[in-house]
Amino acid sequence: MSQATAEAVNAEQIEFWNEVQGDKWVRLQDRIDAMLQPVGQAAIEQLSLRPGERVLDVGCGCGTTTMKLAEQVGSGGGALGADISRPMLAHAKDRAGTSGSIASFLDADAQTHDFGDASFDAVFSRVGVMFFKSPDAAFANLRRAVKPGGRMTFACWRERADNPWLVTAMKIAGQYIELPPPPEIGEPGPFSFADESHVRPIIEGAGWADVGFERFDTALHIGSDAEDAAKYIMQMGPASPLVAEADEKTKTAIFADLQAALAPHAGPQGVRMDASIWIVSAKQG
Ligand SMILES: C[S@@+](CC[C@H](N)C(=O)[O-])C[C@H]1O[C@@H](n2cnc3c(N)ncnc32)[C@H](O)[C@@H]1O
Repeated sequence: MSQATAEAVNAEQIEFWNEVQGDKWVRLQDRIDAMLQPVGQAAIEQLSLRPGERVLDVGCGCGTTTMKLAEQVGSGGGALGADISRPMLAHAKDRAGTSGSIASFLDADAQTHDFGDASFDAVFSRVGVMFFKSPDAAFANLRRAVKPGGRMTFACWRERADNPWLVTAMKIAGQYIELPPPPEIGEPGPFSFADESHVRPIIEGAGWADVGFERFDTALHIGSDAEDAAKYIMQMGPASPLVAEADEKTKTAIFADLQAALAPHAGPQGVRMDASIWIVSAKQG
């Protein structure tokens, strides 16, 4: 597939993660990492990398998990982060350079990029695999990149009802501004892999074996208090690009409602909200 055709396949997501979300994720990287820490940790533990292995981090974003994986495989191994977001990749490269990490990064669409046959022992992702136009093609492509006997572990969000931290802001924003209908099952988006009965055939159909789904419930740190948490969600939640376009009066009203909705979740450790993910594991062949 030519570079131009490959880019066209996920053009909407490439635009979204470059023009809408990229700079924001860079700016909020510390906070997002603090919030997603338990999610990444659970998936990294499940993958159980060994020194000397080579691992591919799909949708690596600002590179935090890639650098963690790099520590585990050591200088005799390799950790490559692949992403389509240039601002996030640039930040990842800067951070790896500053910290002396052996992690490396590549601007590549994981659905279409030729990573080379059997180049990796393992594939990993922290909530970076739900945005492919064709997940079937993407997971077949990733399988080709893994050695026989190799493995994959990724974390993805479970259903909306079990992830109030993501849904609360959408519900509140929807009372003030018109939001698009939630994506249909199978359309790219944070919840596109929420349903095991939808995802399992994709992974198995791509040739992966021993596919396992483990539910992992946790609480995410959203902010130090309700005001801080509301400011953060206003910037980074799924409704944030639309809220940003609203007039000041509407934004103020959304902020006030959000702060009130988050207040009951505040405690000695700050604002913590329930979240639920799947840790999906599979073997190559
Ligand atoms: C929710 S973010 C997660 C980022 C990172 N894994 C983390 O946990 O901080 C999703 C990431 O997937 C990337 N992404 C989306 N579609 C992709 C594709 N087709 N190939 C590679 N990366 C992709 C986005 O650019 C974004 O960085």
